[in-house]
Amino acid sequence: MAGFENKWIWITGASSGLGRAMALVFSKENANLILSSRNVDKLEDVRNECTGTGRKEILTLDLQSESEFPEKVDQALSFGGAIDILINNGGISQRAQAVNTQPEVARKLFEVNFFGTIELTRQVLPSMIDRNRGHIVVISSVVGKFGSPLRSTYSASKHALHGYFDSLRFEVQDNGIDVSIICPGFIQTEVSRNALTANGNPQGKMDNKTSKGLTPEEFGSKVLNAIRKRKKEAYIGKYEVLGVHVKRFLPNLFHKIISRSEVT
Ligand SMILES: NC(=O)c1ccc[n+]([C@@H]2O[C@H](COP(=O)([O-])OP(=O)(O)OC[C@H]3O[C@@H](n4cnc5c(N)ncnc54)[C@H](OP(=O)(O)O)[C@@H]3O)[C@@H](O)[C@H]2O)c1
Repeated sequence: MAGFENKWIWITGASSGLGRAMALVFSKENANLILSSRNVDKLEDVRNECTGTGRKEILTLDLQSESEFPEKVDQALSFGGAIDILINNGGISQRAQAVNTQPEVARKLFEVNFFGTIELTRQVLPSMIDRNRGHIVVISSVVGKFGSPLRSTYSASKHALHGYFDSLRFEVQDNGIDVSIICPGFIQTEVSRNALTANGNPQGKMDNKTSKGLTPEEFGSKVLNAIRKRKKEAYIGKYEVLGVHVKRFLPNLFHKIISRSEVT
């Protein structure tokens, strides 16, 4: 299995939560990192926490600003000449009933979680195809595998990633490029505070279940393993990841369980 030393790893959403956790674990492996998100101060803080000997570059990136992607991809490639692993992690969640979610909020969720992610990937791919190697990682969610109340558009944006990246995997496998889709359950990050409500304002509070999820550090060590093994799909969380299998094999039972559980 491959090591990560001297590899160039580009992480979106690196300023917080899962992105920060992945920056720290890959830095420990002495990988070279490109840390992206919109908030440069937070990216600086994450860079200062990275302990490894690899290079740590900051590249601000708004996943809604596709017109800037060609320049951003050029800059990312200029650091080390190649991207070995692109980790598409930046994203936002939702806490609102479908009937109330305003169309501009639904579009924003798709712009960031789906369109920004697939367009950045599309623009990185030619450099990987030229080298005949590379690894695209996508952070989906367990709700990319099943639906959940208050997350209709978020869940749809994550389901869409599966359709896209499962298809892409077939197209690029002969170019030596792997595609891994990671589905976290509840992980203790800012995701529920930053989740969009019906009118687009952040929810601003930590959900009970998110607060009891895996720590970002636990997620970091598990995701490192999944990426090292170039898994096609991995579920990382506590009991909630079982829902993926229950939904698949016992869909009526799954419906009853979610209907009776307190979802926030
Ligand atoms: N934590 C969980 O329980 C959980 C479960 C399943 C899936 N996930 C997924 O994990 C990923 C990371 O979320 P998290 O839990 O770490 O939440 P988080 O703490 O809220 O972090 C979200 C990250 O996404 C970035 N981001 C948001 N909007 C962006 C935009 N327009 N352009 C660029 N970057 C943007 C944020 O950076 P800036 O604000 O600095 O731009 C931040 O770094 C998301 O895709 C989320 O859907 C999380």
